[in-house]
Amino acid sequence: MTRTYAIIGDPIDHSLSPALHNASFAFLRLDCTYIAYRIPRGDLTAAIADLKKIGIAGFNVTIPHKVDMMRLLDEIDEECRKVGATNTVVNTDGKLKGYNTDVCGFLDPIRKRNIDCTGTDVLLVGAGGAARAIIAGFANEKVRKITIANRTQQRAEEMVRFAKQLGVESEYMDLAKAGDSASSFRFIVNATSVGLKGMGCPISTRNITRDSIVYDIVYMPVETQLIQQAKEQGATIIYGWEMLLAQAMRSFEIWIGKPAPYEAMKLTLLGRF
Ligand SMILES: NC(=O)c1ccc[n+]([C@@H]2O[C@H](COP(=O)([O-])OP(=O)(O)OC[C@H]3O[C@@H](n4cnc5c(N)ncnc54)[C@H](OP(=O)(O)O)[C@@H]3O)[C@@H](O)[C@H]2O)c1
Repeated sequence: MTRTYAIIGDPIDHSLSPALHNASFAFLRLDCTYIAYRIPRGDLTAAIADLKKIGIAGFNVTIPHKVDMMRLLDEIDEECRKVGATNTVVNTDGKLKGYNTDVCGFLDPIRKRNIDCTGTDVLLVGAGGAARAIIAGFANEKVRKITIANRTQQRAEEMVRFAKQLGVESEYMDLAKAGDSASSFRFIVNATSVGLKGMGCPISTRNITRDSIVYDIVYMPVETQLIQQAKEQGATIIYGWEMLLAQAMRSFEIWIGKPAPYEAMKLTLLGRF
């Protein structure tokens, strides 16, 4: 019987996940399919019951349900519990187990470049759902300190507390001052949605140096303004599409139990931009 997977969220119509996963299923000749399912905020509980009724094999979770989905899980993977949000769920006979593949998805491009994060200082710009996974990832890698800048100070303060809970030194920084301090950090990570569709740059970039590693998790366009300007300053660049690909590969592996086809997924992803 064909196994069906899905991504749930709202909005969902521009998600690249169906293309990525369906390409992998076709490449490996698996009898599986993957759909996008829009679930508005407030409709989650009923929609999950419906997904169970149709025997969904597994699903990805995106904005705005990553945190709310946690209370509907029967079992929670350790990394997922640490982050407090899930983006990947497995359905085994009606029992749902949640994972968070954003953490290893975020770290994968860093590891591929053999960058050692131990003892480094991080400037994290943004304090939304993705920021939580990034903090958990950097905590795993034993960074020294995560400085968090965000438009809304209160959300940044929450993230500072979260980082400290995970044993990492952390403090808030005013977003307007973050760019001026850029040279004090080894990593500068953009986890805001600023830069999406070519709109704006989250911080001023003149103090980014050749020693900086600039990681922009925004993946559309591939070359955000932050990436373009950081390149001109000679920084090492990590692209948002690399994280997107790595977290999708990990979801695939959790569901299917075999390695995801990297080249097929990468070609599909980059062909979409
Ligand atoms: N590459 C990947 O695999 C991957 C994975 C996850 C997410 N992402 C991308 O990462 C971005 C953030 O995702 P998320 O899930 O964390 O979203 P989210 O929970 O909605 O958080 C959005 C963040 O962006 C900030 N922000 C939004 N508009 C802003 C503006 N005009 N000026 C300054 N800050 C602004 C918000 O600040 P406030 O707190 O002040 O509202 C918040 O920090 C999205 O673009 C998403 O597509 C990429």
